[in-house]
Amino acid sequence: MINQSSKIIVTGGLGYIGSHTVVELQSKGYQVVIVDNLSNSSIEVLNGLKNITGKNIVFENVDLKKSDLVTDLFERHSDLSGVIHFAASKAVGESVEKPLDYYENNIYSLVNVLKALQKLNKSINFIFSSSCTVYGQAETLPISEEESIKKAESPYGNTKQICEEIITDTVSSSKNLKAISLRYFNPIGAHESSEIGELPLGIPQNLVPFITQTGAGIRSELIVFGDDYQTKDGTCVRDYIHVVDLAKAHIAALTSLINNTDSKNYEYYNIGTGRGTSILQAITSFEKVSKIKLKYKIGSRRIGDITSAYADTSKANKKLNWTTKLTLDQAMESAWKWQKKISK
Ligand code: UD1
Repeated sequence: MINQSSKIIVTGGLGYIGSHTVVELQSKGYQVVIVDNLSNSSIEVLNGLKNITGKNIVFENVDLKKSDLVTDLFERHSDLSGVIHFAASKAVGESVEKPLDYYENNIYSLVNVLKALQKLNKSINFIFSSSCTVYGQAETLPISEEESIKKAESPYGNTKQICEEIITDTVSSSKNLKAISLRYFNPIGAHESSEIGELPLGIPQNLVPFITQTGAGIRSELIVFGDDYQTKDGTCVRDYIHVVDLAKAHIAALTSLINNTDSKNYEYYNIGTGRGTSILQAITSFEKVSKIKLKYKIGSRRIGDITSAYADTSKANKKLNWTTKLTLDQAMESAWKWQKKISK
């Protein structure tokens, strides 16, 4: 049974996926504490969350790289029952330029949090924000959890692989920790209220924020990175999942840990829609919902891009009792509504 007043710590809770997950947790009655160091997020997200939920949310500005601060944080919140750990750096290109910053931030933070949790003399449910990047270009599509883990293409991807291994080892040596890693495919879109959404710093590297910024006239045109791939229309295929559906997967994962529905103490799940969408199909969806003709041209391939990636979601569907509900058009529409709001 879920204790509705369970306290859940959400690290990186002011970030893109974290903030949407906070909304879903609140709506289920969880008591949420957001921990964020504002390194890639804005304090204004807290107001957006308050506007959606009608509640003040406890916020702790803590840098999780600092072990003494983390120990202190978890001592103050020792009545917690779970942690959803989003806090991490996530820009692939930046991780290639500054690998040590990525290893330091993503790995130290996880280690500090797990160490603090191990010290607590109570059961803790832990959810880790992982990525489909751990699979690289998979041999088989759709990608199931059976797919082998390839050597990471970037320091960022490597931190996700290492963090999963750290969790595996820690859970097997801890009496009080149970964990789930969620391997996200491509999150897009925003909350229907447009109170929260994605806030890319500088020039967006991801497709959908680049599309919406081009639609809003912030960027002159989108470059489609290659149309000579072995796919339906020659452009790369991805599994774009509405961030609200993704946020709900965290609730499903937490519920399964709380209700002890799995005998394993550590599990991992692919979280996507199961549908592959090409770049040209994504553009068509944007044009349909925005009624704007998008300016774009075909350019050369981006180094490191894989051809196709979409999820086999049957494990999550079955074991977490979770499925996506929202369509690509709905996700694109919400992304566009959010873009119009923030570019006003
Ligand atoms: C990227 C990251 C990946 C991360 C994922 C989810 C890289 C190499 N990989 O993957 O590690 O887990 O985001 O956030 O950055 N595209 C264009 N023009 C653009 C931008 C993108 O054509 O201006 C294309 C890309 O080539 C790709 C597709 O759009 O084919 C999606 O790109 P993106 O949003 O960056 O996601 P991923 O490549 O899946």
